[in-house]
Amino acid sequence: MNILVVGRGGREHAIIWSLKRNKKIKKIYCAPGNAGTATLADNIDIGELEFPRLVKFAQENAIDLVVVGPDDPLAAGIVDEFEAAAIPVYGPRKNAAEIEGSKIFMKDLLRKYNIPTAKYETFTDYNAANAYLKQQPLPIVIKADGLAAGKGVAVCFTREEADKALQETMVDKSFGAAGDKVVIEEFLEGQEMSILAFVDGETVRPMSPAQDHKPVFDGDKGPNTGGMGTYSPLPHIPQAIIDESIENIIKPTARAMVSEGRPFRGVLFAGLMITKDGPKTIEFNARFGDPETQVVLPRLQSDLLEIFQATINGSLDKIDISWSNEAAVCVVLASEGYPSTYPKGLPISGLDQISDEDALVFHAGTAIQDGQIVTNGGRVLGIVGRGPGIAEARANAYETANRISYQGKQNRTDIAAKALL
Ligand code: AMP
Ligand code: GLY
Repeated sequence: MNILVVGRGGREHAIIWSLKRNKKIKKIYCAPGNAGTATLADNIDIGELEFPRLVKFAQENAIDLVVVGPDDPLAAGIVDEFEAAAIPVYGPRKNAAEIEGSKIFMKDLLRKYNIPTAKYETFTDYNAANAYLKQQPLPIVIKADGLAAGKGVAVCFTREEADKALQETMVDKSFGAAGDKVVIEEFLEGQEMSILAFVDGETVRPMSPAQDHKPVFDGDKGPNTGGMGTYSPLPHIPQAIIDESIENIIKPTARAMVSEGRPFRGVLFAGLMITKDGPKTIEFNARFGDPETQVVLPRLQSDLLEIFQATINGSLDKIDISWSNEAAVCVVLASEGYPSTYPKGLPISGLDQISDEDALVFHAGTAIQDGQIVTNGGRVLGIVGRGPGIAEARANAYETANRISYQGKQNRTDIAAKALL
């Protein structure tokens, strides 16, 4: 088999690493990839949104399966494009990816089907939004409707913050057209948890849960990022809460999408808050999470290609999917200045001294320049330590992370600390 993976982050590196364990796979291409994917796949210089070029490449290179990593191409309908060319593709169609691409679509769906989520109202008019906002208790959450690279959400603790967030989103258009419409929603208090599930319409096969750390600094301080680190499993969260989330949120949502004529095929990723009234939905993503994937896939004992094929064939209910009891902790090494502006092209050292036994190194923002691996993004590397429990996995991740250096390297030092309290 020949496979084309679309994307350039740590998530795609981890997907390729996991697929590579299947010996039926002859060749993997990654468009456009990074310095890490280049060690396992052939990187090709085509961007994630260049659909005609991607389809042409797949036709000319006898691609048997396309796997799409990021949200943007899914929201823009990449799956529909490959299906129109009769090329098997893993991921939701445009009408199903809308569950991530439009927060208003997602909230209205959950309201219609009575699925637990924060109370909310939606607005297209700034004055109406502002009038409503002034009536609401604090804290309050303001969200741009569309995709905003993880940045369109403001959790506001003061009136000033709330006014500023609404102004930036709807008037200053800091997130472009994504902010033409907004959701203003109730603040949920509790622990966050991510559950990703393989879904083929009706059938939901949950993965082992993970927890992300979004703020850039230790102690959850500073602005939100795409994710500074993750761990899995979550030993401090009772199994009953995980089961309740699957039964009351993820399965009903998959059924709702079928009822709406938008069957979801791919990875449905629920961001959840465990409140005192039970788990509630914060968001849905229509894809693997980054860096959730980096800790979840190394714990998958089953064959990822088989899961992808079963999803496309609608036979996800018929295969075995098992998870290792081992723990995994991912520490993200980022560039100085991230999530704001940051330099690129800085040489990275220490990578050649690390073996998979120490920790897995998944590249995110890296490139090769004159034979040297250099930084090429905000999140540079994800270091995944493994071990019998979170403590060992965490120690392995940090020991290895400390052996890698480049100018301005920044990382959180408290990833997974919550699990050890
Ligand atoms: P999102 O991009 O929707 O995942 O939101 C980013 C982060 O904002 C989440 O991971 C939460 O930490 C926080 N957040 C979003 N919505 C809420 C909410 N209703 N209540 C409390 N925190 C929230
Ligand atoms: N880590 C969160 C995301 O992938 O959206």
